[in-house]
Amino acid sequence: MRLSQVGACVLLAVVSIQLVPCKGQATEFLFGTFPDNFWWSTATSSYQIEGAWNVSGKGLNIWDTYCHVGGNVNNNDTGDVACDSYNKYDEDIKLMKELGVSHYRFSISWARIFPDGTKASYNQAGIDHYEKLVDALKANDIIPMITLYHWDLPQALQDMGGWTNESLIGHFNDYADVMFEKLGPKVDLWLTFNEPFVVCWLGYGVGAHAPGIKEAGTSTYECAHTIIKSHAKAWHTYDTKYRATQKGKIGITLDSDWKEAFNASNPDDVAAADRAMQFKLGWFAHPIFVNGDYPEVMKAAVYNKSMAQGLDASRQPSFTEAEKQEIKGTHDFFGLNHYTTQLIEPRDWEFESWEQDQEAKEIRDPSWPDSGSDWLKVVPWGLRKLLSFVKDNYGNQEIIITENGVSIQSNTKEDALNDQARIDYYRGYINEVLKAIRLDNVNVIAYTAWSLLDNFEWSRGYAERFGLHYVDFDDPARPRTAKESAKYIKQLIKDHGFPDTSGGSKKQGSAIVGLCSVLGVILLKLFN
Ligand SMILES: *[C@@H]1O[C@H](CO)[C@@H](O)[C@H](O)[C@H]1NC(C)=O
Ligand SMILES: *[C@@H]1O[C@H](CO)[C@@H](O)[C@H](O)[C@H]1NC(C)=O
Ligand SMILES: *[C@@H]1O[C@H](CO)[C@@H](O)[C@H](O)[C@H]1NC(C)=O
Ligand SMILES: *[C@@H]1O[C@H](CO)[C@@H](O)[C@H](O)[C@H]1NC(C)=O
Ligand SMILES: *[C@@H]1O[C@H](CO)[C@@H](O)[C@H](O)[C@H]1NC(C)=O
Repeated sequence: MRLSQVGACVLLAVVSIQLVPCKGQATEFLFGTFPDNFWWSTATSSYQIEGAWNVSGKGLNIWDTYCHVGGNVNNNDTGDVACDSYNKYDEDIKLMKELGVSHYRFSISWARIFPDGTKASYNQAGIDHYEKLVDALKANDIIPMITLYHWDLPQALQDMGGWTNESLIGHFNDYADVMFEKLGPKVDLWLTFNEPFVVCWLGYGVGAHAPGIKEAGTSTYECAHTIIKSHAKAWHTYDTKYRATQKGKIGITLDSDWKEAFNASNPDDVAAADRAMQFKLGWFAHPIFVNGDYPEVMKAAVYNKSMAQGLDASRQPSFTEAEKQEIKGTHDFFGLNHYTTQLIEPRDWEFESWEQDQEAKEIRDPSWPDSGSDWLKVVPWGLRKLLSFVKDNYGNQEIIITENGVSIQSNTKEDALNDQARIDYYRGYINEVLKAIRLDNVNVIAYTAWSLLDNFEWSRGYAERFGLHYVDFDDPARPRTAKESAKYIKQLIKDHGFPDTSGGSKKQGSAIVGLCSVLGVILLKLFN
């Protein structure tokens, strides 16, 4: 061997050693495929895509009201037309066929079924619309997964207090019952609520979503209390009245960030991160999956803060024993939405709100890549840790990832279509799902990409695009165009993961590196 070759070998050996991460978060890519019965889905929600806000007997919902007040939503955008999917669902189904998904998660607009929220106002035209959609999906071999509540509460129910009024438990149950009765023969995957955390915090806490209430230390907790009981009641209705004949599955879908201790060697940071997880995911998951009640650490913290304020009871309502029995175990799977991660350290807050009761502070590592949404930093490894947390805390359930995805803001259509950042996001996050399954034995059974289409991103209007397909909101026809990420997801689904296509040559490569390293070491010894 010539000296230059020796040098090259040594260099190669050094480089190959450098490529192995020695500390910090594991970033190594895992090649491999998903289990055979793992399935792929994409998702939307009624208000974000349907439009048709004033047709066929539909009543007003809280997002109609909220958007029609100037200043509530970025650019005063509304969902009046949105993607016009109420009329263009056939086109949406073609896009799904092209992607190769086996499932489609969408939501029902309650106010199309019960225009005033109550069963007295039953509107057959609403059922007819969703039945046509379900039939069209099934004709295309796409399995519907229906969310009953994805945030668009009939306005008439808001007028009596919305989710802070426990009479909604009965109204929601009436609505769920009708949907099971009418569509249940054709649908066997149901979600009661989508992200109750967001409903109660953004809607009743900080007021950044409809109905725009800012009662962060009180109504937020009451909202969650009513929603948990509503979920449980609807689950039991399905369980006792429909399960035997319809044989479907019903659960709730909870959103959670991963909360990583800022300093994992500092017990105070670790405790704060756990508190933050309990306040966010445990708030809903603990009653439903553990014992019918809120996490102890959460109850104690809110109680403590309430006492310090001079109140005579906790601001967080409590469940009776009978209610705990009714709530506990109301799940057939664990529905999980996930987007991002934060670092957590303890912090004493002066004021009282859901956020401050937990005495924790969120920090975002400046090195984490940004997205089109200020709250969404790209941190793929957080998903793997979250999945293990769910497994360890909630009894190793079947987990359906019901949402995961990323927004991008683009100035031109061309930019929007060339969404390499979204491909990177999906590749990274979905690979962490594979690691959770293959390396951590987490029972994840499905993955849902949010979203099929660019759509109405709530108070951000149309500025933050989450779609695999571009929608031109300036064109009355709302044409859709596949982005590069749609092609990527299509291939990923076809491959059922990340098969190591470089197989042989890669192994040869590492054999050469290995040989060179050995030679390098021997030569170094000889020449020293
Ligand atoms: C429905 O709303 C649209 C605007 O989005 C309006 O042009 C139309 O006249 C309304 N239709 C009815 C029946 O009120
Ligand atoms: C939105 O509506 C508000 C209130 O009507 C108005 O002051 C504001 O200029 C509007 N913004 C845009 C971008 O049109
Ligand atoms: C709660 O709803 C019921 C009707 O279902 C209504 O009679 C009552 O006034 C509401 N409570 C509040 C505080 O609005
Ligand atoms: C992390 O916490 C440990 C234990 O409190 C402390 O010794 C260490 O200095 C901290 N590390 C940093 C980077 O702050
Ligand atoms: C309650 O507050 C006291 C001080 O006011 C504190 O010492 C104690 O640790 C707190 N307990 C909980 C569970 O937060």
